[in-house]
Amino acid sequence: MSLFNDIEKVLITTDDLQARIAELGQEMNTVYSDDDLPLLVCILKGAYMFMADLTRHLTFRHEIDFMEISSYGKSTTSSGVVRILLDLETNIVGRNVIIVEDIVDSGTTLDYILRNFATRNPATVRVAALLSKPSRRRIDVPVDFVGFEIPDEFVMGYGMDYAEQYRNVPYIGVLKPEVYQRI
Ligand code: IMP
Ligand code: MG
Repeated sequence: MSLFNDIEKVLITTDDLQARIAELGQEMNTVYSDDDLPLLVCILKGAYMFMADLTRHLTFRHEIDFMEISSYGKSTTSSGVVRILLDLETNIVGRNVIIVEDIVDSGTTLDYILRNFATRNPATVRVAALLSKPSRRRIDVPVDFVGFEIPDEFVMGYGMDYAEQYRNVPYIGVLKPEVYQRI
């Protein structure tokens, strides 16, 4: 049975994602210039597709780097324990950093990253998040560029997983309840 049969509904279509990501890129193009030479930090694994599509709309010179953070086990709620699984290769002292996240839920992960980065003395730090679930926020974190605000539902696709699967789905969707019993 196809993995697509596990999907109950589409929350954000591929077209809507692409249109909004283009807008986010234009917005960022008005904020940054070549001289800023920002470093875009993709938070793995969930933000990899967003990062790839977003950067194709950027017209200013920039560099990219990757960081892998873990806060979820095989579940749909954050364990609250944040770990760095892969750290930046780049020294961010004096740099203009843009954190690229898939989704801000409780805010725990982003709060951890922001506080961690602050100790490294970057010039500026801004956050681009494809999705935000404001109703779930437990820590107030600044998000400068937001793609979509979504209701309190566990979503998958476009880089985001459930139990490491479904990242390849080209839209944002919600799984059928029985999937959580099976996988
Ligand atoms: P937070 O620490 O609670 O804000 O959760 C942030 C991280 O949890 C994000 O980087 C996502 O990887 C993951 N996450 C939160 N909500 C969802 C969801 O609905 N689907 C998939 N991953 C999620
Ligand atoms: Mg994540």
